[in-house]
Amino acid sequence: MVSRTIPVDPFDLVIFGGTGDLARRKILPGLFRRFLAGQMPEDARVIGCARGDLTDTAYRKMIKEAIEEFTPKTIRKAKDVSAFVNHLHYVKVDALGTSGWKDLKAHMRDGVIRAFYFSVGPSLFGALAERLHSYKIADSDSRIVVEKPFGRDLASAKELNATLAEHFDETQIYRIDHYLGKETVQNLMAIRFGNVLFEPLWKAQYVDHIQITVAETVGIEGRGAYYDKSGAMRDMVQNHLMQLLCLTAMEPPSRFDPDAVRDEKLKVIRALEPLDPDDYVRGQFKGGDGKSSYAEDVEDPASITESFIAMKVKVSNWRWNGTPFYLRTGKRLKARMSEIVVRFKEPPHSIFEADAGNHSNALTIRLQPNEGIDLSVTIKEPGPGGMRLVEVPLDMTFADALGPEAGEIPDAYERLVMDVIRGDQTLFMRGDEVEAAWAWTDPIIEGWRGREEKPKLYDSYSSGPEDALMLLHRDGRRWREIEA
Ligand code: BG6
Repeated sequence: MVSRTIPVDPFDLVIFGGTGDLARRKILPGLFRRFLAGQMPEDARVIGCARGDLTDTAYRKMIKEAIEEFTPKTIRKAKDVSAFVNHLHYVKVDALGTSGWKDLKAHMRDGVIRAFYFSVGPSLFGALAERLHSYKIADSDSRIVVEKPFGRDLASAKELNATLAEHFDETQIYRIDHYLGKETVQNLMAIRFGNVLFEPLWKAQYVDHIQITVAETVGIEGRGAYYDKSGAMRDMVQNHLMQLLCLTAMEPPSRFDPDAVRDEKLKVIRALEPLDPDDYVRGQFKGGDGKSSYAEDVEDPASITESFIAMKVKVSNWRWNGTPFYLRTGKRLKARMSEIVVRFKEPPHSIFEADAGNHSNALTIRLQPNEGIDLSVTIKEPGPGGMRLVEVPLDMTFADALGPEAGEIPDAYERLVMDVIRGDQTLFMRGDEVEAAWAWTDPIIEGWRGREEKPKLYDSYSSGPEDALMLLHRDGRRWREIEA
């Protein structure tokens, strides 16, 4: 296996929020990895912008330290880090004022790709877009990258879309959902559309149900002010889980191109049935054993925000009629585990004795940890004594199957930032997709707010509230264990 790197053209990447957490933790360490992979052109430049007074030298030092903190020791040599940070510059800019903008303009070069990463809160998106336009820093070929949360409901998402559209065309706007940059998520499309094995069976006739789990062990980690206003529904479901659902449920696009893929995803969101109040369970983690509770973390004993949600979602179209999608996500759960399980139906008629055991196939797509796929098949248990059936996994962990030459599995951000430079929007959300996702989630959130519904309490590091198990039990099904 030879890993292939596609060269990119020279670029000036401006990061607003260039000294912030995301830039230090994800964006710049991601670019450093691309630099190591030989994908950063020699004359590429990254310009960090923020409000602080920093020289280029001080900024380079800050990012050098961030790379040392957020990339594994095994992949970095001091000389590479130094060579990488030489691509960095710093400009002090006041997003809401006038200072720094002329300076930024003077830093930009002609004849290279210009990309502007808005790694700041959405309240600044409008001001940044307006100033990039009025100071003539962005041109019709420039790209802007915006982070989630893209709005907190349909009205605010529409407003954001309208503000950005005043200065940028949709083809220039890259809305990040970092789940789309995860290697296995892209592999879901490769598995579905690069093989003839699965697609003929990928429908209600053969699929009993689908489970999508994104379980985290982390808690609120000092993000209480944001999280308590969002909850798991806004923080994870409206974006990440919805994207996983779309890629699993969508019809085959005619081409692997941005609009063909996004048109199909949009159709799935529009086909979602409104969620029945009996079809979801909200949870909030308890404290104990020296661990704080959710309410303590967000410093509000009366908080009724959910840190966990499980739901049964119906996609109302020909392909999926009768096959539910069970979604769950939560914080402070037993293990960090994200996966999609496609559970197939049992064979229509068993030719074996009743006590041979009945089994069905399951295709598990593991996003993290241990990215890979696993197909369970039914075989005969070895040995004499009649026909007894057992389910065994045909396991393919990518790291094992592809070997060390395939290199490390890239982090979502490094892939996505390079896609921006290449001008490939396939793995970014289109404005209408985001709005459709909010249009589905808004009434659900309004419903439980109106009823002042309290979430069920669950033990930290468990599988979530008991009722979430019941959501499947009552349908004669069960969740896969949450385990690393
Ligand atoms: C973010 C959420 O979008 O995704 C966080 O805001 C969450 O709350 C994170 O922890 C999970 O991402 P990952 O890549 O660690 O699964």
